[in-house]
Amino acid sequence: MSLPAFSPDLMTRTAPLYDRVKSVIPVIEWPAFADDVEAILRLKRERDAVILAHNYQTPEIFHCVADIVGDSLALARQAMTVEAQTIVLAGVHFMAETAKLLNPSKRVLIPDLRAGCSLAESITAADVRLLRQRYPGVPIVTYVNTSAAVKAESDICCTSGNARKIVESLGAPRVIMLPDEYLAQNVSRDTGIEIITWAGHCEVHERFSPKDIRQLRAGHPGLVVLAHPECAPEVVAEADFAGSTAAMIDYVGTHRPARVVLVTECSMSDNVAVQHPEVEFVRPCNLCPHMKRISLAKIRRSLETLTHEVTINAAIAAPARRAVERMLAV
Ligand code: 13P
Ligand code: SF4
Repeated sequence: MSLPAFSPDLMTRTAPLYDRVKSVIPVIEWPAFADDVEAILRLKRERDAVILAHNYQTPEIFHCVADIVGDSLALARQAMTVEAQTIVLAGVHFMAETAKLLNPSKRVLIPDLRAGCSLAESITAADVRLLRQRYPGVPIVTYVNTSAAVKAESDICCTSGNARKIVESLGAPRVIMLPDEYLAQNVSRDTGIEIITWAGHCEVHERFSPKDIRQLRAGHPGLVVLAHPECAPEVVAEADFAGSTAAMIDYVGTHRPARVVLVTECSMSDNVAVQHPEVEFVRPCNLCPHMKRISLAKIRRSLETLTHEVTINAAIAAPARRAVERMLAV
């Protein structure tokens, strides 16, 4: 592996960008990023491309090259409005598929095709068809963390940011919600609606236990605990607040807790800490191996070679798009 190009000139040119992340990236690490950052900014112009980055991306991606950042819901909404010819999705595959569904005339690239998701992997379109046969007439809500083929079999999609609202909007006493068992249980507890679910779990959030939260509180007096609803209900019950990644960021911005822990993927704390130096972030670190497949070097390569293009079979795209659009209309 060759070392990245670096020179004092490059350091000077990229100093304003390094300034954005200096509180979370040691200066000794910046030479490993600077050349790729500069190349990506140039390639975005040459390729008429924008980069959409999820809140779990590392800070040099999130703060230095991304044009649009957010949770799954915000990225879906924003993808629809992109006018540039190319969208690079710095996130996981289902997010790139959702962007393609919502803005089909654009070229959508994912820098590493292996950036998957344990939830998306947990269920197939055939599984959804079997559930529909087994529970005729029960509406099927599918989490966006699924393949387009699974979305195509469902009535409506949801994200962690709108799950409760979507389930309530159906006005049904019983709903099938797939594939995240914990998200479904958390929504059922909040709404009182009976939910039939699936045994899918996020491999990052399922690692947190109620005992972890109690130990964190014991070790850090005054700690405010914010948890993602992909955590088990017993973990959410130990938290002060539960919400999507964007809702957690909003909570920090609005309440400015002196000391906080974000019970979620750990790059997010770095990204939020950059914006809130006054807040102390306690950081147990659970990384998502899929999100972490995306790097500056791979984004650069993606823009250089225009790979890997995400395509969706037309027969799947039409019903999958309908399910996502129904969600956005609620
Ligand atoms: P949100 O950003 O929509 O809360 O999703 C979290 C997540 O795990 C995405 O992979
Ligand atoms: Fe999937 Fe969990 Fe990784 Fe998000 S954090 S991509 S839900 S495995």
